[in-house]
Amino acid sequence: MKLLDVNGLSKSFGGVAALRLVEGYSVAGETLGMIGPNGSGKTTFVNIVSGHVRQDMGSLTFDGIDIKGKNPHQLAAIGLCRTYQAVRVFSSLSTQQNIDNARLLLNDRGLDQAELSELLEWLKLDHVLSKSAGSLTLFEQRRLELLMRLVLKPKLIMLDEPVGGLAVTEVIEMIHLLKQLKARCSIFVIEHTMRVIKELADRVMVLIAGEKVADGPPFEILKNKRVVDEYLGAQHA
Ligand SMILES: Nc1ncnc2c1ncn2[C@@H]1O[C@H](COP(=O)(O)OP(=O)(O)OP(=O)(O)O)[C@@H](O)[C@H]1O
Ligand SMILES: [Mg+2]
Repeated sequence: MKLLDVNGLSKSFGGVAALRLVEGYSVAGETLGMIGPNGSGKTTFVNIVSGHVRQDMGSLTFDGIDIKGKNPHQLAAIGLCRTYQAVRVFSSLSTQQNIDNARLLLNDRGLDQAELSELLEWLKLDHVLSKSAGSLTLFEQRRLELLMRLVLKPKLIMLDEPVGGLAVTEVIEMIHLLKQLKARCSIFVIEHTMRVIKELADRVMVLIAGEKVADGPPFEILKNKRVVDEYLGAQHA
């Protein structure tokens, strides 16, 4: 069964068409990648699906529920969460306080202490609980943001450039963590780092100038002529 199902999604900002009649779906258990040039509408897609921005047109279904018009909290409650391209944590609060805040959204549903301890250990955050989030490294902040969504026990987590800004060794470590994440929930991942897409994605959607131009397995997509000419070629030039 389709977990996420998007049809005819369109959004303009002033005169700029950020998305034009985009359709896409993911199935439970799948890791779906999304790639495309800067400004091609990837973040806008996540912003709309996750309830942060309202579309001009188009239908959205998640886990069999019509989610058009639902806000991020309502979506988190039914198992749809996202992280941000520019990591968002409360810098002046401690790691522990950030996690406590994230758990408040649950209204007491969800993780018990043992499950939380296991997550903290897995994401190697157990030793920074008393530090302010703003003093953590970017990699630690990205792991904290991930944990803040995982306490909500999502069915689908949408990751907007999870390795953005990370050093090469950190990218490798994050890929390792995201491979393990696959066992917990379905994943939607936007990336410019093709290593992430190659190693994680079961299928990839490509957006160019707001339009979906390809959808298929990574090995096929990464040699698609239009994708190479209009995105990968330029990226690697
Ligand atoms: N809130 C907004 N107001 C005005 N224009 C916006 C807004 N959000 C996005 N846009 C525009 O919509 C287009 C798509 O932007 P979007 O951020 O979705 O691209 P992207 O594919 O995520 O790019 P990148 O790879 O650089 O993150 C761009 O032209 C952008 O300037
Ligand atoms: Mg973006």
